[in-house]
Amino acid sequence: MGCAREDKLRILGINAYHGDSSACLVQDGLLIAAAEEERFRRIKHWAGFPSLAIEFCLKEAQITINDIDFIAINSDPQANLLRKTGYVLMNNPNISFIKDRLKNSQKRYDILQELKEHFPGGQFRGEVVRVEHHMAHLCSSFLVSSFPKAVNVSIDGFGDFSSCAVGVGEGHSIDINWRVYFPHSLGIFYQALTQYLGFLHYGDEYKVMGLAPYGECAYLEKLNDVIVLKDDGTFVLNLNYFSYHKKGVSYQWEGGIPEVGILFTEKLEELLGKRRKQDEPLEQKHKDIARSVQAMYEKVFFHILNKAYQRDPMENLTLSGGCAMNSVANGKVYQNTPFKKMYIQSAAGDAGGAIGSAFYVWSQKNQQRSPFVMDHAYWGTSYKESELEKVIEENKKELISQNCAIIKVSNDEELYRLTATEISKGKVIGWFQGKMEWGPRALGNRSILGDPRRKDMKDILNQKIKRRESFRPFAPSILREAVPEWFETDDDVPFMMAVFAIRPEKRPLIPAVTHVDGSGRLQTVTQKTNERYYRLIEHFNQLTGVPLVLNTSFNENEPVVCQPQEALSCFIRTKMDVLVLGNTIIQRNDPLL
Ligand SMILES: [Fe+2]
Repeated sequence: MGCAREDKLRILGINAYHGDSSACLVQDGLLIAAAEEERFRRIKHWAGFPSLAIEFCLKEAQITINDIDFIAINSDPQANLLRKTGYVLMNNPNISFIKDRLKNSQKRYDILQELKEHFPGGQFRGEVVRVEHHMAHLCSSFLVSSFPKAVNVSIDGFGDFSSCAVGVGEGHSIDINWRVYFPHSLGIFYQALTQYLGFLHYGDEYKVMGLAPYGECAYLEKLNDVIVLKDDGTFVLNLNYFSYHKKGVSYQWEGGIPEVGILFTEKLEELLGKRRKQDEPLEQKHKDIARSVQAMYEKVFFHILNKAYQRDPMENLTLSGGCAMNSVANGKVYQNTPFKKMYIQSAAGDAGGAIGSAFYVWSQKNQQRSPFVMDHAYWGTSYKESELEKVIEENKKELISQNCAIIKVSNDEELYRLTATEISKGKVIGWFQGKMEWGPRALGNRSILGDPRRKDMKDILNQKIKRRESFRPFAPSILREAVPEWFETDDDVPFMMAVFAIRPEKRPLIPAVTHVDGSGRLQTVTQKTNERYYRLIEHFNQLTGVPLVLNTSFNENEPVVCQPQEALSCFIRTKMDVLVLGNTIIQRNDPLL
């Protein structure tokens, strides 16, 4: 290894052979770049080896694979091996189940081979370090938070044979105090019930979360038989309702959209009635089940958090793992637990494991905490103004044939004023600026924006671009200082990871971002972390007296746009009204000036 000082280490963190494959680069203890592979491959939740994300990270730091000292991966097949072996011996699961797991473990040893294939001519001379899956999750939040000390909780489907880890982070290290092991999992509970409700795609859990407020908790009593809470803070699943632990599940993790087989048994249908098929209409019963599933989730979630606090009473909490994406439950943490401050990193799920394992390795090698704090999500690709202009030029013929005006606005303030004016007229705006967001949410750099005051904005967006289920809400981005006036909170929510109640008197003013229960999944925007987005919302506020805009991801049934050409193609094939690409405004039909 060519490094004289440990703090100069270059560490490539990766999440590979798993949903939301990703890579990040940590150099001198600072995060330089991070991105999910799906953005480059153009396949949602892409699973496999993140070669294009790695390529981007290296390019961003202007180095090659030869310069990397460590590759840190968020999976260690050797972790919890005794438990794994014990489980197999005790339960005698069938041979295909064992074979599947072995095959998956084997994959994780092939990193050097993958590097040879994807980076021919390069020579990685460093070391591959495997970090246990939940340790990587915990580090992905705690080690990049501003908390010197915090309770750390990770909850997901499964990783390295466990589904939940609870620990305490102090300084540069985390001690894990307790875990929940396979086959018990809160993530699998939610995923199985999501499948039961007819949402079969990987990552569809958020649809159940969006549907829940339309229902009543009529099935909670029944679900009490599915998960049982234990006095020690853990829980167990009633395995009669699940099938994966015995016959295994067909997981498809390689080079494409992750696919997961059905996780539940007929017993669940005996308990709740026939499952909903994908194309069947959503009835009140389904909404009631969704509400009950969310309520059951919250019951277990707060049980875990409260036990964690009881054991280690401290003010700060960090959350991670796929379940930390449950923004509705996250928004209730302060009401239901004694924690005073919460941090959730923008890629809380498995993609974030890349960050967690990289900072874990940095901390271990240096025996200290890096000074890095992740207070924004802008770690992805970016393009110079001249590159954007070149792409516009290449598409000029098509844009003119669609009767579009192309207006270069050199003055930033004028750009914000014109864009804010168009938003206030009910136009749908594609807003492509700066560095792409890390994590699943568009946070004002690859966003589609709309007027939150219009009742019909949700329908307009769905008609023109999104075509998504009508029950799903759209989210607001709000100036940070306006939060307490509009929401029943004064917390920082930079990554849209928590839902809070909108103040009752404000709800009628912003119907497009007010969910049926009066809540909103807000993003708090500061001038320090995203000046352009902040200034745009400020201009919208000056025009309308409303310090927030509707923000949804810039895509159309695809991963969020990454390159300017993808933004332009999305604009061209949809009915989006305006595209703001850097300092150029492209407007359909109705010229601005
Ligand atoms: Fe995970």
